[in-house]
Amino acid sequence: GAACAASEGAAAAPTPTPDGALASGGAARAASGTAGAPGIGDPDFPTDGNGGYDVGHYGLTLSYDPATKRLAGSAAITATATQELSSFDLDLHGLTVGKVTVDGAAAAFARRGDELTLTPSRAIGKGASFEVVVDYSGVPDPVHGDRDLGTYGFIATKDGSFVTCEPNGAKTWFPSNDHPADKATYDFRLTVPQGVTAIANGELDGAPVTNGGRTTFVWHERHPMASYLATMTTGKFEVRTGKTAAGVPVYAAVDPAFHSSLNDLYTRSAEITDYWSTVFGPYPFSSTGGVIDDFAAGYALENQTKPIYGGFPPESGIVAHELAHQWFGDSVSITRWRDLWLNEGFATYAEWLWAEHKGGDTADAEFRRYYANAADPMWAYPPGTARPGDLFNASVYNRGAMTLHALRKSIGDATFFALLKKWTADHQYGNATTPEFVALAEQMSGKKLGGLFDAWLSQPRRPADVP
Ligand code: ARG
Ligand code: ZN
Repeated sequence: GAACAASEGAAAAPTPTPDGALASGGAARAASGTAGAPGIGDPDFPTDGNGGYDVGHYGLTLSYDPATKRLAGSAAITATATQELSSFDLDLHGLTVGKVTVDGAAAAFARRGDELTLTPSRAIGKGASFEVVVDYSGVPDPVHGDRDLGTYGFIATKDGSFVTCEPNGAKTWFPSNDHPADKATYDFRLTVPQGVTAIANGELDGAPVTNGGRTTFVWHERHPMASYLATMTTGKFEVRTGKTAAGVPVYAAVDPAFHSSLNDLYTRSAEITDYWSTVFGPYPFSSTGGVIDDFAAGYALENQTKPIYGGFPPESGIVAHELAHQWFGDSVSITRWRDLWLNEGFATYAEWLWAEHKGGDTADAEFRRYYANAADPMWAYPPGTARPGDLFNASVYNRGAMTLHALRKSIGDATFFALLKKWTADHQYGNATTPEFVALAEQMSGKKLGGLFDAWLSQPRRPADVP
């Protein structure tokens, strides 16, 4: 993550979003008046994403051979220009680009670090929609992040691929605007050797088709998705499908090494999806589920509609965490990485709510246990700033969850749970920021909450007031 981002060394890009959250004053690339910026404007990840356009849809047609570890195919990207574009960038790490077209005409391209710069034969007008097709192939090289990032992106396994891309690993397997501020819908047409299963987001379009020893799986994710939530997980899998009690389609898959966990994964994912729907608002997507792969990643990721568990059978608290992310992170996405507590603090708080719901410790007891440890390093490490080299630090999770509990105590249960539902409804399928959350909490409670959020999210010390 940070290592990749830093190698470009470019300035933050001036790409205002509707709420202005990403606006920044950095200089665009020199000597190219209408070039799209090489970053979307996230000050902590300056070369992630790109400026000048907004992707609406990715159509990924890819084949993968676990024996050679070779990925090959094309990405068809439909986008709208938000400025005149003489050239623009996509994010792509490694792989070999064969051919690029823009609106059907061959376009020139150049590579520099993880930036693929395309120059169409003539400039794209501001407001125009355009289609880019990139043909590419190669052996994907995942990102080796520092500290708590681990290895992420497209990772080859013994029988396929384990694909978890948070925060910026989509670029390891498809050219993309690789930042959560630009969400898009996806189609996946994935071809693998017969006997291998290819799992992506959303729902299967009919039964897989086998031809000449190769099977093609077609998946559609029709709700907007952040690039880091896209997956192409392949290998030998046992699958169970059905519906939750409330009627949401379920797709659960496990590597045969986790054969005995398939039914638990299915049942827990179904039950928890329905439970969160009563707490957070209607389930936002067209299916739910989960995947356990025999790859010891050491973490889980909330891939949209299909959280993935890396080499362990998840206990229900982890499933509760990853499925809470379907609302907090996946449907309502962050606009910049410094607001990651909006994902991880909420999903961790959901774990506490789940334990309480199941008759375990209350959220209040969990809060008090953390609060009692005055020596916890998280007090000196506030969760409201991004730490590119230490993004998934414990403070973002635990002090983030504590922030929500402090808020709940301050505004009362009725307002707090109404706030969660209004938050997920107002920003469904979109993006949001911490100041927007604070504003909604103040509006719904009628209280000034700036001091509370500042103490919990921004100050390098344990907040003095426990409401
Ligand atoms: N969002 C994931 C979770 O909370 C963590 C992802 C960790 N990513 C990574 N590259 N280590 O479950
Ligand atoms: Zn999480």
